Amino acid sequence: MLGTLSMIQPPNIVQAPSVPPTSLPIEVPAPGGLDLTPWEIARIEMDWRQGEHVTIIGPTGQGKTTLALDLMTQRGYPLIIATKPRDRTLETMRGGGWHIIREWPPTRSRSILWPKLTRPSDKAKQADVIRNALENAFITGGYAILIDELSYVLDELRCQNEVKQIWQQGRALNLSLVSCILRPSHIPLLAYDQATHIIMFRDNDETNLRRMGGLGHWSRAEIIEHVSGLKRHEFLMLNTRTGQMTRSKTEPKGQVI
Ligand SMILES: Nc1ncnc2c1ncn2[C@@H]1O[C@H](COP(=O)(O)OP(=O)(O)OP(=O)(O)O)[C@@H](O)[C@H]1O
Ligand SMILES: [Mg+2]
Repeated sequence: MLGTLSMIQPPNIVQAPSVPPTSLPIEVPAPGGLDLTPWEIARIEMDWRQGEHVTIIGPTGQGKTTLALDLMTQRGYPLIIATKPRDRTLETMRGGGWHIIREWPPTRSRSILWPKLTRPSDKAKQADVIRNALENAFITGGYAILIDELSYVLDELRCQNEVKQIWQQGRALNLSLVSCILRPSHIPLLAYDQATHIIMFRDNDETNLRRMGGLGHWSRAEIIEHVSGLKRHEFLMLNTRTGQMTRSKTEPKGQVI
C-alpha cells in the first residue's frame, strides 16, 4: 500500500543548483601519493549530477555524515533519512533551514525524516515510515536522498527492495541516493556498481580494504595504497564516470549548514 503523495512535488530536475564557491584556496602538495585538493575545489570537480548516486565508506567518527550533509546542501530537493536515536552531527542542522519531520511527506524543501526511536518497540514503526518514504520518493522522483546508516536500513529495517530499486532506476527518475556505510563487507555490490562517486575514509580493516580494491578503473593496490595513506578526516573520492581520483577533506566549521 503506497502512502500519501508528496506535498512538495519536485520538478524533473536536470541539474539542481550548486552552492557557489566563496574562495578557492591553493592546493597543498603531499609528499608522494595524491595531493590534497581543498574540498571547495573537489566538490566542484566532483560534478555530482542529479540522478547519480554517492557511496561514502568509513569507520565511525571520520566525517561521513559531515561530508554527506555538505553534499545535501547542494541539491534543490534534499531528503535526509536519520535512524539513530541521537546524532550530534545531524542535530547541528536544526535551525539552519532544515526541518525534522516524523513521517512522509516533506512539508518544506529541506527535510530530515527522523522517526522517533525511544524504545526498541518503535523499530517496527520506524521501518514502516522509512519504507513508505522511499517508495513515495521513488514515485515522485527528483529528490536527493541521504541514508545516513545504510546497513541499519537494509538489514534491520529490511528496506532492501526499496533501496535497490532506487539504485537501479534512480538515474531515469532524477533520484539520487547518498549512502553512508560503516562496514562495506556487509553491503550489496550495488552500492559500488551503481554509484558514480565512491568516497572512502581511512580504514585499516583488511576485509574492507579488499572490498574497496578492485573497483572499476583502478587497481586494488592503487586504492589500498591511497586509502591507507589518508590522514584523519581525509577521504579518497573516486569518480567512476571520469576515472578521476581525488584526495580531499571537508572543513566542517561554517560549511555544514
Ligand atoms: N574535516 C574535519 N575536520 C575536523 N573535524 C571533523 C572533520 N570532519 C568531521 N569532523 C568532526 O568529527 C566528528 C565526527 O564526524 P561525523 O559525525 O561526520 O562522523 P561519521 O563518520 O558520520 O561518524 P559515525 O559513523 O559515528 O556516524 C564530528 O564532531 C565532526 O564535526
Ligand atoms: Mg555519521
